[in-house]
Amino acid sequence: MRKNILIIQGHPDVSHDHLCHALAAAYEKGARESGYEVKTICIANIDFPLLRTNEDFYSTDPVPVIRQCQQDIRWANHLVIFYPLWMGSMPALLKAFFEQVFRPGFAMEPVDGGRKWVQLLKGKSAHIIVTMGMPAFIYRWYYGAHGLKSLERNILKFTGIGPIKESLIGMVEESQAHRVSWLEKMFNFGKKGR
Ligand SMILES: Cc1cc2nc3c(=O)[nH]c(=O)nc-3n(C[C@H](O)[C@H](O)[C@H](O)COP(=O)(O)O)c2cc1C
Repeated sequence: MRKNILIIQGHPDVSHDHLCHALAAAYEKGARESGYEVKTICIANIDFPLLRTNEDFYSTDPVPVIRQCQQDIRWANHLVIFYPLWMGSMPALLKAFFEQVFRPGFAMEPVDGGRKWVQLLKGKSAHIIVTMGMPAFIYRWYYGAHGLKSLERNILKFTGIGPIKESLIGMVEESQAHRVSWLEKMFNFGKKGR
C-alpha cells in the first residue's frame, strides 16, 4: 500500500548526534526499503516565532516555514514523532512547533460559535517515540505518562489524528545493547510503515 510518511524530529539540538536522530534514521531506512515516501521536519533546523496571543493563534498567518510544514502534514498519511522526555513532557521547542502548526483552519475548525470543533486531520495515523533516562514503566505507571497523554489527547486526537502508537524507550544511558535492539525495532517499524 502506498504510504506517505512524515518524520517529525522533535529533538531541539541542531547537532544530529542524539539517540532520537539515530532512531529516526533507522526508521527512515526501513521505510524507504519498503518503498514508502518519506519526508522529515527537524524542528531544531527551522526558525519560527513563539505563539504569544489568542489573536495570533486564530487570525495571524503562520510564517512561510510553518505553512510548508502544514503542507507536509497534509501530504502525509502517517506521522512519526521522535522526542526526548524533558521534565516529564516534550521539549518546549516541539510544543511551540505544534502551537504554530496546528492552527484553526488547518488542524481543526471551531463551529457553532466555538462550542464544537471540526477535526480537519482525520485519516492520518501517528507513532510517537519517546526516549528517557528513567525506566519506561516508571514513566508509564508511576507518572501516568502525563506529558505523552497530553500530546495524544489535546493535540493529535483533537485534530482527528488516530490511531496513535507509542514506543517508550527508557534507561537510554544504560546499555549499548539496549540501544542496538531499539534501532532494529525502529528499522522494522519503518519497514512496516507503522
Ligand atoms: C532538560 C532535560 C530534562 C530531562 N528530563 C527528563 C525527565 O523528566 N525524565 C527522564 O526520564 N529523563 C529526562 N531527561 C533525560 C533525557 O530524556 C535523555 O537524556 C534523552 O532521552 C536522551 O536522548 P537523546 O540522546 O536523543 O537526547 C532530561 C534531559 C534533559 C536535558
